[in-house]
Amino acid sequence: MADQIRVLIVDDIPETRDHLTKLLGFESDIEVVGSAASGTESLSLAGELMPDVVLMDINMPDMDGIAATEKLSSQVPTAAVVMMSVQGEADYLRRSMLAGAREFLVKPFSSDELTASIRQVYTREQAKISRMAAAPAAGGTAAGGSGGGDGDHDGQVVAIFSPKGGVGRTTVAVNLAVAAATEVGKSVVLVDGSFQFGDVGVLLNLNPKNKSIADLVPELEAGEPESLDTFIINHSTGIRVLLAPPSPEMAELITPAGVRRVLEALRRTHDLVIVDCTSWFNETTLAILDAADVILTMLSLEITSIKNMRLFLEVAEQLGYDQEKVKLVLNRADSSLGIRVTDVESSIGRKVDHTIVSDGRSVVYALNRGVPFFLSNREAQVSQDILRLAQAVSGERAAAAPQDSAHKAAPKKSLFSFR
Ligand SMILES: Nc1ncnc2c1ncn2[C@@H]1O[C@H](COP(=O)(O)OP(=O)(O)OP(=O)(O)O)[C@@H](O)[C@H]1O
Ligand SMILES: [Mg+2]
Repeated sequence: MADQIRVLIVDDIPETRDHLTKLLGFESDIEVVGSAASGTESLSLAGELMPDVVLMDINMPDMDGIAATEKLSSQVPTAAVVMMSVQGEADYLRRSMLAGAREFLVKPFSSDELTASIRQVYTREQAKISRMAAAPAAGGTAAGGSGGGDGDHDGQVVAIFSPKGGVGRTTVAVNLAVAAATEVGKSVVLVDGSFQFGDVGVLLNLNPKNKSIADLVPELEAGEPESLDTFIINHSTGIRVLLAPPSPEMAELITPAGVRRVLEALRRTHDLVIVDCTSWFNETTLAILDAADVILTMLSLEITSIKNMRLFLEVAEQLGYDQEKVKLVLNRADSSLGIRVTDVESSIGRKVDHTIVSDGRSVVYALNRGVPFFLSNREAQVSQDILRLAQAVSGERAAAAPQDSAHKAAPKKSLFSFR
């Protein structure tokens, strides 16, 4: 057998530590190298033992699992954390993922779930390490402008992500896709990567039977998706669309490996693969973000959006995404709520790459008609902003916004310093 996966168990309850140690003792490819009774102890032990995976309890008296994970990710970055919690709430999950955890297990879990998570996390980390070692300067976007466009590699995967919901991901994804297809002349496929509650179909007035990524599942399990084309909808706007499953419970059928295969197949046949992601981290979202050439990370002028963006940028760094891969898009940039763009920039320590104005009338009118505003209100400023974004993403224009050419990191300030 190959190398064993070295696991450190962290839990304040001795019985839990013993139980987990025994469970894992049955697995020939997993070795429990130690156990710690507190967050503090886990830090020193991890430094000594250099585990591949740390099984971390979220609730511990001295330093909780989230704080310990945060520290671990900077002190022992090679140790991937699997968080364990009795609460399965989205907020816990998100905070854990933002702290740097790679997986989240809700107690009680079966030994199969436990070992599957450990193996998955380990495999993913190994793949990341070898990818980083093999291609330190691979890819990126056409930062210099001249080499952009179709280049020598396949189409680009553009993920539209935000660490907070409701900031306009779907709106931007749909209109960006239409702009890139109709004005920039790219072949574009839009993938609804919000597998549980996808809205792309609503915005494009699509409700077909048996045409979604869920219909590809049997093929994805078998390997390469062969009849991908059959399930992609050719929309009247000139884009192609791969919808999310029609009901939330079907989302579970979509695996990270399946998503990767779909994206790889699509990038071979399209210039742009635009993916509307969820706003929380789960395995499939991480798979999309990993596969993406560019992550358009959206934020709005709201304190919670800004806070989450700061956390996301830290996660992005831990995931090994370089600065060029992560682009910041500020939506509704002119909706003045007492926070200015410069305040945002100094708070997150980075320049905003693109801005999109707020235009409730155009957006809602389009939404109600099921026609993207880029088509129904082509002259509006919001459409112009989308076009500029489409051009930048397609490598049609040198660098992004006129106001800045490079990311000059503004000094980091406290989040609340501008209140
Ligand atoms: N530039 C804009 N101007 C005005 N309204 C906007 C703009 N962008 C988005 N909106 C509105 O904001 C709301 C949220 O947009 P959207 O559904 O695209 O966000 P989302 O990030 O995809 O949300 P979810 O987390 O639900 O997936 C919608 O009502 C949309 O019409
Ligand atoms: Mg959405």
